[in-house]
Amino acid sequence: MQAYLVGGAVRDELLGLEVKDRDWVVVGATPGEMLANGFKQVGADFPVFLHPRTREEYALARTERKQGRGYHGFTVYSAPDVTLEQDLKRRDLTINAMAKAEDGDLVDPFEGLRDIEDRKLRHVSEAFAEDPLRILRTARFAARFQPLGFTVCDQTMALMKRMVDSGEVDDLVPERVWQEFQRALHEQAPRAFFEVLRDCGALEVLIPEIAPEKVFELAMAALGCVHDQSDAETEERFAAFLSPLDDSVALPRAKALKAPNDCQNLARLVTAFTPQIRNVDPQYPEAEALLDLLDQADFWRRPDRFSQLLNVLECALPSDSGPLNLLRTASKAATGVDPKALLAQGYKGKELGSAIRTERLKRIGDAVAPINH
Ligand code: CTP
Repeated sequence: MQAYLVGGAVRDELLGLEVKDRDWVVVGATPGEMLANGFKQVGADFPVFLHPRTREEYALARTERKQGRGYHGFTVYSAPDVTLEQDLKRRDLTINAMAKAEDGDLVDPFEGLRDIEDRKLRHVSEAFAEDPLRILRTARFAARFQPLGFTVCDQTMALMKRMVDSGEVDDLVPERVWQEFQRALHEQAPRAFFEVLRDCGALEVLIPEIAPEKVFELAMAALGCVHDQSDAETEERFAAFLSPLDDSVALPRAKALKAPNDCQNLARLVTAFTPQIRNVDPQYPEAEALLDLLDQADFWRRPDRFSQLLNVLECALPSDSGPLNLLRTASKAATGVDPKALLAQGYKGKELGSAIRTERLKRIGDAVAPINH
């Protein structure tokens, strides 16, 4: 039996990048031999094992053939006679289809090294089309490696277009789409992910509301701005992406994408706040309107989310910095009201509620007042 380092580890090493996960392919072995050597089997679908000491993944060389539509129905064939080249051939991109032998020799039947040098994302074979998720993976690699000069080669783009036209993308399950989407939002150049999806027609299928050019540009500008705040969370990136949409459209889309609740909630707030922020008159701000916004955002219980909301709105509404600064000022002023102090003064129940509100209104009014003069 022989083990080869494969996939992302070989690619990243050749690119001079830090290698995170090391995956191996084993040729010429049976599951029984792996178990006898102390490997632990993981996952029922494929013959994949964990190394007894390093815990790295060792998969027996396999071929995969698709049977039905969508993401189901792969027939996996694994036996000691499956060659390394056959295993590499079932992979998505040439840069992901290289192997390195234990003596350091590169096994590169599909010219991945040449594509690394030419900065090309190219499919290995027509089998690429058997897995529509690969469209999203390719777009994600574009987002990761665009700063290094990588682009999707014409033939691969043409193949992805044909896959979209044949309806393959319609069958992708939202969970897998979200997984790729979420990772793409954190890549170096997230815009490239959406450009690739747009250019092959997949964006029109997956998130049609964002596809029109004007909306697309607004979404990219907001996302780019949030991305520049290097530690932006997924929910901020996601909400920025959906920010050009009306809340009646953004929410159902966020749900259909099965975005986690925090992402859905921030997107809901951003899109609901947008028209209201535009209604705030920066010359004559009303304390009541500002307090209403703080209530709507549940600022009192969720100050961190409120600060995320402001971050995203600042990126989504660059020409509304006046109202947004007022909202920030109002939040700082109102936060000084201490319900405990009012309780100690004898306020209770409903009266306590209105005393808190009155005090908050007064402080907000004082804080934004200078702007009125
Ligand atoms: N692979 C594939 N098709 C897929 C998923 C994976 O061909 N739909 C292959 C690729 O050869 C890939 C390898 O399996 O390199 C490992 O997949 P994964 O760990 O998801 O990706 P990496 O390439 O290691 O990239 P990352 O750095 O994002 O983990």
